[in-house]
Amino acid sequence: MVYSDIYNHWKSDPEDFWMKQVEAIDWTRKPSKGLFDHNAPFYSWFDDAQGNTCWNAIDRHVAKGRGDQLAIIYDSPVTGQQARITYRQLLESVAKLAGALDSMNVQLGDRVIIYMPMIPEAVIAMLACSRIGAIHSVVFGGFASHELAIRIDDAKPKCIISASCGIEPNRVVHYKPLIDKAIAIADHKPHINLVFQRGQALSELNQARDVDWVDVVTNAPAKDCVPVSGDHPLYILYTSGTTGQPKGVVRTHAGHMVVLNWTMKNLYGVEPGEVFWAASDVGWVVGHSYICYAPLIHGNTSVIYEGKPIGTPDAGAFWRVISDHKVSTLFTAPTAFRAIKRADPEAKLLQDYDISHFRTLFLAGERADPDTIIWAEKHLKVPVIDHWWQTETGWAITGNPIGIEMLPVKYGSSYVPMPGYDVRIVDDEGNELPKGKLGSIVIKLPLPPGTLPTLWNADLRFKASYLDQFPGYYNTGDAGYIDNDGYVNIMARTDDVINVAGHRLSTGGLEEVIAGHPDVAECAVVGVADELKGQLPVGFICLNAGVEDKSGRVVAECIQLVRDQIGPVAAFKLAVIVDRLPKTRSGKILRAVMVKIANGESYKMPATIDDPEILSEIADHLKQVGYPKVR
Ligand code: COA
Ligand code: AMP
Repeated sequence: MVYSDIYNHWKSDPEDFWMKQVEAIDWTRKPSKGLFDHNAPFYSWFDDAQGNTCWNAIDRHVAKGRGDQLAIIYDSPVTGQQARITYRQLLESVAKLAGALDSMNVQLGDRVIIYMPMIPEAVIAMLACSRIGAIHSVVFGGFASHELAIRIDDAKPKCIISASCGIEPNRVVHYKPLIDKAIAIADHKPHINLVFQRGQALSELNQARDVDWVDVVTNAPAKDCVPVSGDHPLYILYTSGTTGQPKGVVRTHAGHMVVLNWTMKNLYGVEPGEVFWAASDVGWVVGHSYICYAPLIHGNTSVIYEGKPIGTPDAGAFWRVISDHKVSTLFTAPTAFRAIKRADPEAKLLQDYDISHFRTLFLAGERADPDTIIWAEKHLKVPVIDHWWQTETGWAITGNPIGIEMLPVKYGSSYVPMPGYDVRIVDDEGNELPKGKLGSIVIKLPLPPGTLPTLWNADLRFKASYLDQFPGYYNTGDAGYIDNDGYVNIMARTDDVINVAGHRLSTGGLEEVIAGHPDVAECAVVGVADELKGQLPVGFICLNAGVEDKSGRVVAECIQLVRDQIGPVAAFKLAVIVDRLPKTRSGKILRAVMVKIANGESYKMPATIDDPEILSEIADHLKQVGYPKVR
């Protein structure tokens, strides 16, 4: 079978295609059909099935005699620790934590926020929630209290599971004060804060809600999987939209299991038993799908890496992990490879390692620039594959399905649609555009299994954000084109979302924080090109009448505000004071033009601009802080 056979099978008979994939999963009740469309344009999959993701990720492998195979390899250069966990050991830990949660009255449908670093306990916590039908919401450790509080108020968790600390190369991140502050800010108050104490820094458990992980788990009874219906939510994962209120992407048990299992063999080309490494974080969708769920459901060994591509201790870190653990497939963001390439341009450190087991590098999260792909191909001597997806979809929309056939390489493209995705390019009125023409990228409804059925407690926002602009289609928010061979090319976002080191940020969210400074009259944040991180946020701040900022106090305070409220992950380090912002006559800020000026690109003077003079003032301000950068 070749890719076109598989894709056409899906296209001609989607029910048959997906019902065949259902066979690879264990169910307590098999679904009677695939698509449930009675509530269109809200669609869902395998609703009447019954089963449990945790069973498929762990128990069934043990039941089938794979209990002694490694499920997880934990490799932590920041602590100097490593651990190897078999499926049987993982089952014991997860079943006991599930038992502990159950004994604390965390039940089917309750929400649990997980705020943890890259340690096995983070994955154990996710799986324990899945086991009892609780709905987890993992919050990335690089987000600060305010962001955590927004998620607490939206998800209304009964319990927070955390660790005493995370470890960044330059500091220890103490989670407990961040959680206590978040709970103080939030209206909703979780009953339990379960803390996993790490030797590097202990938390003081000084609140009535605080519980020590070891205390409750050690003697907890092992809890069996609770069968849940196919459409029961497995998790909520918040992602940036155009405002400071993140969107709670919902993922349900059945479709997610079916589709992730399919991708491991067909897209990533791995066999059960092989070592798969997603160098991401459990706080992101890549971490949910490819550190935790897909490798385990498929019976692979998943690497949990607590470190960075460079500096822990050097730019050979990835090669060491590949070599030590015989990794067959690595999945990471292009920015990680740009960092390695910059630190070790000739990949000299690679000579120290045997990476003969390594077969494929997959990149996603941001556009993979051809230079980085070619560099990686040259040094690693394996295929380097860009593929495109979003938190919303949970798995790749387009890619090169090397488990089916390796399609010809095209740099700058993220390859072809996976089964389930009918990708089109449209103009602003929704008219389909011919091959090669740039437009909004949309996907014909219904979306395939594993994608979001809606947003948490926000059906109307789901419709307004994704479905209303182009009826009958899901609006991806990305712009691009499809070439004559059907390859999809992702070029830009159509909204105010920017992508910083593979992390998705809302410029609107950053602006809301800066506008909260008492001396700020108004502001704009745009994403400018950055050689390492892809994009970096730059702020333009107008002060209230009578306020001056010769000392840079306001700028420094705004930077600190973003760090305190959104978190260090925003990497917001540059802002300039301007007299006015460039706007159209109707008052819309001309962000796209500001980006072009900062990037040193040519631009057309917008016909609707209120005052053209402002653009040269903006250019002067940017020049003073080194933009555009000389390349
Ligand atoms: N907890 C607390 N703080 C965190 C954090 C976490 N889990 N992750 C990042 N941060 C902090 C960092 O310490 C840094 O803080 P600083 O301003 O004090 O230095 C800030 O957030 C920015 O972090 P990061 O984006 O990691 O930038 P960096 O300059 O430290 O490293 C790279 C640059 C390229 C090495 C890094 O961005 C990277 O590894 N990227 C891979 C991206 C990735 O995995 N994306 C996931 C999508 S697939
Ligand atoms: P996230 O939801 O954080 O995974 O971010 C999804 C967004 O990242 C997409 O909508 C794109 O804008 C961008 N993105 C992800 N993968 C790619 C890719 N391979 N090429 C270009 N952009 C990508």
